[in-house]
Amino acid sequence: MGSKIKFILILCLLNLTLACGPVHNSVGSNTANSLGEDSGEVFSKTVFPILDNNCTICHDGGTSGPAFAVSDPNISQNTLLNFGLVNLNNPSSSKLISEIESGHNGISTSIAADLDAAINDWLSQISESENESEL
Ligand code: HEC
Repeated sequence: MGSKIKFILILCLLNLTLACGPVHNSVGSNTANSLGEDSGEVFSKTVFPILDNNCTICHDGGTSGPAFAVSDPNISQNTLLNFGLVNLNNPSSSKLISEIESGHNGISTSIAADLDAAINDWLSQISESENESEL
């Protein structure tokens, strides 16, 4: 094979890998705690248990669903944020909630209310702790 053709083939392969990479399947690339130090801790006690109990079969990175139900709560949190599944300005209209509310893979729609309460709890607790420590 000519080296030019090889080069082009390699470029194509590279392009395929990049373009068809784990876009929907990836965990959050952002491992820094973008919502402050306490956030992961609060998240692990509010939203995380619901995801861990109900969503791991399909959201642990093994399927096409975004991998927010993984064992590390920090990665779980950051994945939700990176995929825009939590609306920080209006927590109750988060996609994470509406997706379940409208019926999602046989998940009980009552879990939407649990998620709603948990997301609001999480975000209000971190805004309180921010006020305490920073201001
Ligand atoms: C039986 C498998 C299955 C279960 C269980 C499941 N999901 Fe999913 N989910 C998927 C798949 C596959 C996708 C990607 C395709 C799609 O958007 O429907 C997805 C997509 C999503 C999306 C949309 C992501 C986006 O970027 O638009 C949200 C939000 C979501 N799931 C939330 C949940 C939550 C919350 C739970 C647990 C309470 C859950 N899912 C349980 C299979 C599942």
